[in-house]
Amino acid sequence: MKNKIEIQKLYKAFGEKKVLQGIDLDIYEGEIISIVGKSGTGKSVILKNLIGLMKPDTGRIIVDYEDFTQSSGDNFYRIQQKFGVLFQMAALFDSMNIYDNVAFGLRRKKKDESFIKKRVPELLEQVGLKDIETKMPSEISGGMQKRVGLARALAMNPQIMLYDEPTTGVDPITGSAVDKLILKMNNAFNITSIVITHDLESAFRISDRIAMLHEGNLIFLGTPDQYKNSNDSVIRQFSAGRANPSEQTEIQ
Ligand SMILES: Nc1ncnc2c1ncn2[C@@H]1O[C@H](COP(=O)(O)OP(=O)(O)O)[C@@H](O)[C@H]1O
Ligand SMILES: [Mg+2]
Repeated sequence: MKNKIEIQKLYKAFGEKKVLQGIDLDIYEGEIISIVGKSGTGKSVILKNLIGLMKPDTGRIIVDYEDFTQSSGDNFYRIQQKFGVLFQMAALFDSMNIYDNVAFGLRRKKKDESFIKKRVPELLEQVGLKDIETKMPSEISGGMQKRVGLARALAMNPQIMLYDEPTTGVDPITGSAVDKLILKMNNAFNITSIVITHDLESAFRISDRIAMLHEGNLIFLGTPDQYKNSNDSVIRQFSAGRANPSEQTEIQ
């Protein structure tokens, strides 16, 4: 199996607070891998390091066998373009309608308006949306906002999609629709998918592999079945926490 990304000995601290303490993880081309763990363990910090929004203290991120961490200028930008992200709250621009939100990156890339006019409805259709171009983000549901955020990311033809807590804050029906979309994107475009989540049920449904982050280290890496059968006490506790909603509340 070909490695798409290699995370090597990644360390990141904020002052005294050591968040990542030597993360090593190879991510295979075309897989769906979920990174799970409690709130505040550093899942979003991994995501930000992966896409170059944050630099690690030490360690490297290798993408397609190229060192992203040490790259700069045009090279950095070229590698960063391989990533698409669906941020936690979809992060749409509130003052732009849906059309302009989806068109945003295409316009930055100086695509023709005639191309954009054709492309935006196609992208919306891929995420199951129609005829909402003139609506504002505040006029559509949270689940629809996530779809629009995904359409906006897909517009840039990413090779790797990162999803930060895609099912957090949406009802279970929307959550399972989001799961299906992640699977669809993965299948249709062979996009390598990294899902950051504390929603184990969702991780079980969609993942080829699950990695568990705990106190700065990856303490588990394996298939959903291996995860379910693990006797590790931290994993058992985390799984049991699913039954206790107070353990899962994430305030963001
Ligand atoms: N830019 C930052 N400055 C200082 N501390 C940060 C920063 N980003 C994250 N942290 C801290 O790092 C820890 C992990 O955060 P995060 O990755 O957001 O957790 P989660 O696993 O919930 O996504 C938290 O304690 C958070 O307060
Ligand atoms: Mg987070």
